[in-house]
Amino acid sequence: MRSDWIDLPPEVLGTIEAHTGPIRKVEPAPAGNHADVAATVHTAGGRVFIKAARKVAADTDGPEVRSLRNEARIVPHMNEFAPRLHWTVDAGGWLALGFEHVDGRHADFAPGSPDLDLLAKTVHALQVARCPEVVRMRVERRWESVAEDVSPMSGAALLHTDVNAENLLITPDGRAVLVDWAFASRGAAWVELGLLLPWLLKAGHSPAGAADWLARFPSWTAADPADVDLFSAVFAERWRRHAERDPAAWVVLHADLTRRWAKFRREG
Ligand SMILES: Nc1ncnc2c1ncn2[C@@H]1O[C@H](COP(=O)(O)OP(=O)(O)O)[C@@H](O)[C@H]1O
Ligand SMILES: [Mg+2]
Repeated sequence: MRSDWIDLPPEVLGTIEAHTGPIRKVEPAPAGNHADVAATVHTAGGRVFIKAARKVAADTDGPEVRSLRNEARIVPHMNEFAPRLHWTVDAGGWLALGFEHVDGRHADFAPGSPDLDLLAKTVHALQVARCPEVVRMRVERRWESVAEDVSPMSGAALLHTDVNAENLLITPDGRAVLVDWAFASRGAAWVELGLLLPWLLKAGHSPAGAADWLARFPSWTAADPADVDLFSAVFAERWRRHAERDPAAWVVLHADLTRRWAKFRREG
């Protein structure tokens, strides 16, 4: 759940302002739900994008802080793909990251949207990028609780794993910038495309239309269909279980989208 900027204790604000200078205006981020605080701040030097999370106790990181630490470790190695990380503040029971502000809007993944070409270009570039050592999470582990053998999803490619329309910012000069690197992982390159599928369906693609669109990616067409079937089934099963435990609207929607895709793989 998001908190407000004003929930930040004075000690944390003070340390942030030591980096940014006095903050004149705060605009909460228009989307996302992981970090406790996500906002654009305006300063004399320009805008900075800040994500912050509260620890569960003075010296104990909770899951949100752990995600931010992960993001802070990874982003400096993402060069052209991610906004620059300017500073990290670890104070007053909070972790805050200050990023280069990207002037951009959310991408539109709807069928026929020109943003789909920018999405394809970004994903193509990611698919051939080297996966830096700092990316330690192995994507296949997500499905260990629902599959006996998750090795088909393993690999050495760099995966963002959450390429949704709100994490792809389109700048006024037509560049695409991927944000939200907290869950970047290593795995088989085609898994990135499998993870993208529900976002394409959510934007209005049919499963067959999304499958056609994905045919432009060599890793997807080269993947063993049996592996894609396995992925599709375990992806849906894990979200089904998640929705049973936590029926939040977005979880139920994701469970439904992954179920639709798995059904299409089974039945066409
Ligand atoms: N560097 C940035 N510059 C401008 N806006 C950003 C930046 N990073 C993220 N955002 C905006 O904030 C939203 C939430 O940030 P994100 O990193 O996705 O956090 P969450 O983990 O909460 O989803 C994004 O969907 C985007 O609209
Ligand atoms: Mg996000």
